[in-house]
Amino acid sequence: MGVGTDKPDPDVGRYAVTHDARDWGVFKTPTLREVEHTAPYMHDGSLATLDDVVEFYDKGGIQNRNLDPNIKPLHLSDEEK
Ligand code: HEM
Repeated sequence: MGVGTDKPDPDVGRYAVTHDARDWGVFKTPTLREVEHTAPYMHDGSLATLDDVVEFYDKGGIQNRNLDPNIKPLHLSDEEK
């Protein structure tokens, strides 16, 4: 999804351990249990609210060398968000 990959010196995630190029910028998908009480969101806390998270997914993540082809802009309406 590319969280943080647009930063000058991004956290390389799982790649730091495996040195496998496919793991560059990869982070564990966390449980969303009690998520309304655990802001801020993402490994770097870059998204302050759940509305910000929905906006992030609606934009299709952040373009980067490992962006999953299934993560793409959704163009959700306000009602769908
Ligand atoms: C193909 C679908 C999805 C994938 C592959 C995916 C994957 C991920 C990954 C890898 C993270 C961690 C990112 C990081 O720490 O940098 C994450 C976080 C999160 N995702 Fe998703 N996600 C998907 C769909 C969704 C949807 C539909 C929602 C809710 C509308 C959602 C809500 C969240 C939230 C709230 C977090 C932050 C959790 C936290 O920081 O504790 N995700 N997701």
